[in-house]
Amino acid sequence: MAPHSWAEPWKIKVVEPIRLTSRSTREQAIREAGYNTFLLRSDDVYIDLLTDSGTNAMSDRQWAGMMMGDEAYAGSRNFYHLAETVDRYYGFPQCIPTHQGRGAEHLLSRLLIHPGDHVPGNMYFTTTRLHQELAGGTFHDIIIDDAHDPSSLHPFKGNVDLTKLDRLVKAVGASRIPYLSIAATVNMAGGQPISLQNLQEIRYYADTHHLRIMLDATRAVENAWFIQQREPGQGERPVAEILRDLCRLADGATMSGKKDSLVNIGGWLGLRDPDLAEQARNLVVVYEGLHTYGGLAGRDMEAMAIGIEESVEDDHIRARVGQVEYLGNRLIAANIPVVLPIGGHAVFLDAATMLPHIPRFAFPAQALAASLYVESGVRAMERGSVSAGRDAETGKDRIPALELVRLTIPRRVYTQAHMDVTAEAVEQVMSNRDGVRGLEFEYEPQYLRFFQARFRPI
Ligand code: F0G
Repeated sequence: MAPHSWAEPWKIKVVEPIRLTSRSTREQAIREAGYNTFLLRSDDVYIDLLTDSGTNAMSDRQWAGMMMGDEAYAGSRNFYHLAETVDRYYGFPQCIPTHQGRGAEHLLSRLLIHPGDHVPGNMYFTTTRLHQELAGGTFHDIIIDDAHDPSSLHPFKGNVDLTKLDRLVKAVGASRIPYLSIAATVNMAGGQPISLQNLQEIRYYADTHHLRIMLDATRAVENAWFIQQREPGQGERPVAEILRDLCRLADGATMSGKKDSLVNIGGWLGLRDPDLAEQARNLVVVYEGLHTYGGLAGRDMEAMAIGIEESVEDDHIRARVGQVEYLGNRLIAANIPVVLPIGGHAVFLDAATMLPHIPRFAFPAQALAASLYVESGVRAMERGSVSAGRDAETGKDRIPALELVRLTIPRRVYTQAHMDVTAEAVEQVMSNRDGVRGLEFEYEPQYLRFFQARFRPI
């Protein structure tokens, strides 16, 4: 009989000890952190599911690549390796390295967005939207309604609603839309994919209205995996081939290599248009570094080039997304409300449903993340109205439909046993939920407030 289970396509060569502190230590730590898990010291955390960004474990090949760093100021051989690899796997012939994803978002927003412009996208991401707004643009969410419903089982909740897009184009005019900002997968919707067919339809629409498509390719490999698993006719195709197809439909891409590409730092802006790339290379020297390193060391570019190759292997991505699914299924079995279907990089707890006694203005997801930490030492992240921030025009709190806590799984870092402990910790919080109290701001930063805000219990 053929085995039903799969296992990680690697074995462990180096380990980093972690420890569980006492409950009273954790109570003191979260108080000192203003009930914000971003302000905890990592030494006080047991299982760190804050983010999958830059938290990846690199392979022996990547570490060997680090020793091959060519730290020349100009023309490092690792830049050429990276640019060739981006072209081979993502299909963008012009590659401008940046220190991480938001560096690329900054360049792209500055290049293309003018004050008064409108940028439609399949749900916002925090840094992406902020750079669009700082450049004078207004972001418009054109994702399908299913994306805002945590219980909808739509297989491609990252899809764009073309009616919403068309309505916006008719209202503001195509000339005020510098590009369509399309993410694969959609982080804030729960790590949900966009289908190849939907992106083809968007491309067709964009061509007829002379619009550009810019892809947020941060987790596009995970998106390609979901296409292989769920989209009719795609089941036999390698993930690497599907990734190329996704990218072929876009005019350019911003990339945070800290996710899919299995590194701890790095990103790039990928473009087709040589003139636009020339302008981007003019800007990168102002904000990041020379166009052949963009804020990265040569060794970082080498590790990212090797990481890209490893990231598109089907065995890798099956185990990566499979581990996230494993945790999700454990929570579903325990009747914990989570965003469905389980996403590519994280399991998202539906905090509004878990803590119905805490009103939205008292930040139930922030309170849930804090109490999960106190209960278990597991660190998660709020993805609700604290993350959504204030409306750029009215200054009022944005109250998104989704009020979530994200259990984000770093790649190749934790074992299934860590997932079991995490699931039990969430169950524990759920059974003590009546004791969880709402929070109010003690300090609210102006930009991306979730990173550094401080709270106190109400
Ligand atoms: N786009 C998406 C979809 C992201 O998830 C992120 C980062 C970025 C862009 C920005 O990239 O961090 O390299 O500057 N997401 C991290 C997270 C921070 O935890 O989800 P960056």
